[in-house]
Amino acid sequence: MLRTTARNAFSKSNVASQRFSAGGSRGLKVLAILYKGGSAAKEESRLLGTVENELGLRPWLESQGHEYLVSDDKEGSGSFFQKHIQDADILITTPFHPGYVTPEVFKKAKNLKLCVTAGVGSDHIDLHTAVENKVQVLEVTGSNVTSVAEHVLMNMLLLVRNYTPAHEMIERGDWNVSQVARNAFDLEGKVIGTIGAGRIGYRVLQRLVPFAPKELLYYDYNPLSPDLESAVNARRIDTVEELVSKCDVVTVNAPLHDGTRNLVNADLLSKFKPGAWLVNTARGAICDKFAVADALRSGQLRGYAGDVWDVQPAPKDHPWRTMKNPLGGGNGMVPHYSGTTLDAQARYAAGTKEILENYFKGQAQNPANVIVGDGKWATKAYGQRK
Ligand code: NAI
Repeated sequence: MLRTTARNAFSKSNVASQRFSAGGSRGLKVLAILYKGGSAAKEESRLLGTVENELGLRPWLESQGHEYLVSDDKEGSGSFFQKHIQDADILITTPFHPGYVTPEVFKKAKNLKLCVTAGVGSDHIDLHTAVENKVQVLEVTGSNVTSVAEHVLMNMLLLVRNYTPAHEMIERGDWNVSQVARNAFDLEGKVIGTIGAGRIGYRVLQRLVPFAPKELLYYDYNPLSPDLESAVNARRIDTVEELVSKCDVVTVNAPLHDGTRNLVNADLLSKFKPGAWLVNTARGAICDKFAVADALRSGQLRGYAGDVWDVQPAPKDHPWRTMKNPLGGGNGMVPHYSGTTLDAQARYAAGTKEILENYFKGQAQNPANVIVGDGKWATKAYGQRK
């Protein structure tokens, strides 16, 4: 979807544009790649992360003399994204429908100075090249971490309690309690571990405490402070292999980077407790899709749930759409939406505006939002480096 009104507004707003010097004495070209909302977005204006509702930024950006181009068309060399990235100053995109900024795209993007992730997780941008090219990468840190943590808890419960097959049985008109109860358990008394104990991982641990697990474990090369650890009674495990071997339920809450891509592969899955449950709302590419489907089919995993896929939108034949455990359940997959509740959209739209405003005014950014600063890594969450 292409909106061209920005060009007209731009020509009328020269005076305003002079005020913004971050990109010189002109208004800037801001390109946003968002997902198509269709009739839902027309009926629900709080679906801010859509091409229809444009993060609510158009009137504000245009009133300042900037050009704002919005589209969901992002695949292939002839796409809107590939065409307009060539002279865009700023790219805004969401992890839900990301414009992938590969090293090749960076080569074309001659004016690009700032990439803003409307949400959390900036792995769709080649961050090494962003550092080299001095392109800043910022995200709206914290904007949807509670939304995701709630989703993780829901996923654990629906897998452990065998909820989906039970509901499907009711829709079919059947009633067979033992058929679903034979694979239903309690979360209470289980060993539960998170790979990554940052904002989301820690919130998951906090929310698990009232369920009285046997033990809460985590693996993260950035250890929690003793105060945070003791507040949730969690224990750090030295290696990811050891963590998965101890857990009944594992959840992945680390960003996608060189050290986590394909981390949960056939080898690591073979080290899980037989019949464990795995929840991944972090990024699809952290798990090997075929190895996960095989592990579920064999019963090595009793269930897998999450909302993230490699790539997005997920192809129709992606094995995670239909994979099942030997009893015909254990699949809790949904489209990528855990972090895009209407509450989260309000927060990441407001956060995106704040980042842009700071940039236009040359003001300091909230350090927590900066993934790549001016030619430097600003975060410690995307892998260990010297
Ligand atoms: P965060 O930066 O607060 O925490 C990430 C933690 O993971 C850090 O403590 C880091 O040290 C740790 N980590 C990194 N590599 C690791 C590794 N190899 N092993 C163990 N721990 C490792 O990030 P936050 O806010 O908790 O988000 C985490 C990720 O969740 C995001 O990067 C994003 O990919 C995903 N996410 C998914 C959403 C969804 O809608 N499904 C929405 C928001 C985030």
